[in-house]
Amino acid sequence: MGSVFISRAIPGDAPGLLAAAGHSVEQWPEDLPAPRDALAAALARSDAAITMVVDHIDGGMLAAAPRLRIIANMAVGFDNVDPLVAADAGVWLTNTPGVLAETSADFAFGLMLALARQVVASAADTRSGGWKSWTPTAFLGTDVHGATLGVVGMGEIGEAMARRASGFGMKVLYASRTRKPELEDRLACRWSPLDALLGQADFVSLHTPLNAETHHLLGPTQFRSMKPSAMLINTSRGAVVDQDALVAALRSGNLAGAALDVTDPEPLPLDHPLFALPNVIITPHIASASLATRSKMAAMAANNVIAVLEGCEPYNPVNRPLHPRV
Ligand code: GLV
Repeated sequence: MGSVFISRAIPGDAPGLLAAAGHSVEQWPEDLPAPRDALAAALARSDAAITMVVDHIDGGMLAAAPRLRIIANMAVGFDNVDPLVAADAGVWLTNTPGVLAETSADFAFGLMLALARQVVASAADTRSGGWKSWTPTAFLGTDVHGATLGVVGMGEIGEAMARRASGFGMKVLYASRTRKPELEDRLACRWSPLDALLGQADFVSLHTPLNAETHHLLGPTQFRSMKPSAMLINTSRGAVVDQDALVAALRSGNLAGAALDVTDPEPLPLDHPLFALPNVIITPHIASASLATRSKMAAMAANNVIAVLEGCEPYNPVNRPLHPRV
C-alpha cells in the first residue's frame, strides 16, 4: 500500500478513492501551493503524487524522491513537468484528457462573448452607478454571430470551441499541425496556415499546449498581421503569447481587446500594464473550473495513481518510462 501526496484541497472524492484502495493520503493543507522545498520534501516521502499545473517538478526533485512512481497531474496540460525527464527517472506522468474539453470551451466562448459585448465593463459601470438612462451609444460592442473565429490548436478543446462557433453562425478557420479533414466536413471549418488565419479572424482563440514550438507563438509580427478590430482569447497557457508584444498591440490599437484566463506569470502583479487596459478581461485560470469537471479530473488522477501503485500501467500516460520504478 502506498503513500500518496495531494498538493492541494481538491473537489470530489479522490482521497476517498485512494483510501478505499488501501493507500494513505497526505494533503497540502493551505490555499497557496507548497513552496518548492515543501513540495520536494513531500515528494521525497511519497509513492505517488497528485499535482496541479502550478507544481513545477524537475529532475532534481525526482532524484531526491526515489520512492515516487507516478505524478498524476490534475490537468490536461503538463508543462509543469517534463515528461521525458520524468520517464528517464522511471516516473509515470499522467494527465486528464477527455473530461474537460466541453467545460473549457464553454468558458472560452463565454470570454469571447463577454469581451465582444463589454459584459464585464458594463456590469462594473452599472454597479458603480454609471447607468443613468438607456443610451443609444453606450457600450457598443462587436457582433460575434457571423464573425470569423480563428481556432489555434485543434485538439479536443479547440474542436469544442469550433462546434460552439458553428452554432453561432461563425465562419471557423483553424491552424493546427495536423490537418483534420473529417472535422472540416463535420464542422464546416477550414484549415489555414497561422499567418493567414491571423489576417482574417475577428476573434482568435488559443488552444495549444505550451511547449518549445508554441512558446511566444503570438509575438510582434503576429500581432501586426491581425486586424486592428480583432480580439484575442487565451485559455491555453500564458507563455503561448509574448505578453509585452500583446500590451504593445493593445496600446497602439493594433488589436481591439484580449480576454485572458492564463497569463505569464500567474497571477500577474497588480501593477502589470494589462490591468490598466480597459479592453482586457483577466480571469484566474478557471476554464475547467466547474464542480463536476474538476471532480472528474480529480477522480481520473486518483485512478491513475491506484493503477500504478497496483503494478499496472496508468490509464492516461503522457510518458512511458523504460524502467518504471517499482
Ligand atoms: C488546465 O489548465 C489544464 O491544463 O487542465
